[in-house]
Amino acid sequence: MNSKELIVNTLSNVVPDDIAKEQIEKLIEKPKSSDLGDYAFPTFILAKSLHKAPNMIAKDLVAEINQDGFEKIVNTGAYVNFFLDKGEFSNDILHTVLKEQADYGDQNQGKGGNVPIDMSSPNIAKPMSMGHLRSTVIGNSIAKIISKLGYSPIKINHLGDWGTQFGKLIVGYKKWGSEAEVEEDPINNLLKYYVRFHKEAEEKPELDDEARAWFKKMEDGDKDALALWTWFRKLSLSEFQKVYDRLGVEFDSYNGEAFYNDKMDDVIKTIQEKGLLEESRGAEIVDLSAQDLSPALIRKTDGATLYITRDLAAAIYRKNTYNFVKSLYVVGSEQSEHFKKLKAVLKMMGYDWSDDIHHIEFGLITTNGKKLSTRKGRVILLENVLNDAVDLAKKQIEEKNPGLENKDQVAEDVGVGAVIFHDLKNERRDNFDFNLEEVVRFEGETGPYVQYTNARALSILRKVGDVDYASADSMSLSDPEAWDTIKLIQEFPEIVSRAGEKYEPSVIAKYSLKLAKSFNQYYAHSKILTEDDGLNARLALVKSVSIVLQMSLNLLGVNAPEEM
Ligand code: ARG
Repeated sequence: MNSKELIVNTLSNVVPDDIAKEQIEKLIEKPKSSDLGDYAFPTFILAKSLHKAPNMIAKDLVAEINQDGFEKIVNTGAYVNFFLDKGEFSNDILHTVLKEQADYGDQNQGKGGNVPIDMSSPNIAKPMSMGHLRSTVIGNSIAKIISKLGYSPIKINHLGDWGTQFGKLIVGYKKWGSEAEVEEDPINNLLKYYVRFHKEAEEKPELDDEARAWFKKMEDGDKDALALWTWFRKLSLSEFQKVYDRLGVEFDSYNGEAFYNDKMDDVIKTIQEKGLLEESRGAEIVDLSAQDLSPALIRKTDGATLYITRDLAAAIYRKNTYNFVKSLYVVGSEQSEHFKKLKAVLKMMGYDWSDDIHHIEFGLITTNGKKLSTRKGRVILLENVLNDAVDLAKKQIEEKNPGLENKDQVAEDVGVGAVIFHDLKNERRDNFDFNLEEVVRFEGETGPYVQYTNARALSILRKVGDVDYASADSMSLSDPEAWDTIKLIQEFPEIVSRAGEKYEPSVIAKYSLKLAKSFNQYYAHSKILTEDDGLNARLALVKSVSIVLQMSLNLLGVNAPEEM
């Protein structure tokens, strides 16, 4: 039983029967100051049914209540204040964490239900933007979090691998490119052709006709056109893969937009059968004015399908293939209108499961308050960002721990981890500023700080070697320095479930900072390794902290080096 359950049970024995346990649980507060106990229960809600003043009620409840498991229970004004029995409580928690290890905090609210997560989804032949980076790391973390809650995530990279831009690309390549050049630096050179195409097409509109013709060939299954497309796709993917490898992200599916080429006719047919398809200036649309949205453009005048047409096919395919309980799309806030339309059309088609679709939106990364340039070079930027972060990490490691063995690997873990952590510690909808120096600091609210704290805990444990904690029967810690840390450790399962409910990795990141800070305070104020009766309990606390810090970092997709 966790401490909240204990309080709910204790209270439910003394409050009137018409107050349900869930209601009690919702009312319980955590006082700001420890003078007011670990938890407090406000009695105002009982005043009406008991015809008594709240302070009286609080006083009477305290007189009646069973104090087992508590150091004391008192009342201050209208509140009942609970002070947990520190010894007993810490003993319970430490035993639990050391027994369950990496399973600590596992829950089964997901009951194995499938949850496709549409994430990363960069566009072929273009650089991966910082937005795609955000989608990748947020999606990856959500996958880990919900997996701990018992769901089965399916990570889908919905690549932008089809569309008129490929016609332009082929024209550009044929006119100005060469195989050797593309092989040498695929994304940058493909982008170069694409940019040049746009520039020259301003003067020579016939280029656009050529591009349309090539794309038409692709759609008609022309061998040459498709061979080029396949080649571009493969080269781009292997470039993207380098970034994914560094970030430690894997996908279950790379079904991109092209995958739905043969699946859209059926969708359009259904839309038509339901009487939803309307003609508007030669194009086919679904009118969404009743939902206060602009129309969904399903097919253009020339018969070409659109982004949303593919997403309709993809949503239905995912429902049929995975029978999902929820379907997530980790995509920037600028596409929120698109996802509203997607859901609206599905709903009108009669698919009630459209309510299970969630757009997990996120804000922009800025530098010095400015939006990052969307023009070329962003892939360089992303790789540069990682490289620079790793260099900075290496510098600090050289200073702090020059004798460290696998310095390069640790620097990679710390540098890349710092970038990921910085992205995830902000609430995902917020825009945030990116300043490398700040991101890679070993002190302050950073990933390296959490990693460093874990490494410090592990180094204490290395000094004492193996300890059989499980057989230590009493691991009670009653010193006030340890208390804050113990309570945080106990909160972990609740934190994971809150992060999962809100699809918000920042909840985990902020928690890990708090736990690291609390542990460092403990470390500064107590002599952990002193040989006395409390030694085992203190070591158990150190060990538990490292277990929970590592798990938190892991849920964010950040590695936890043992030494740094
Ligand atoms: N490729 C798109 C872009 O870069 C993102 C795709 C998001 N996923 C989706 N199913 N629409 O903007």
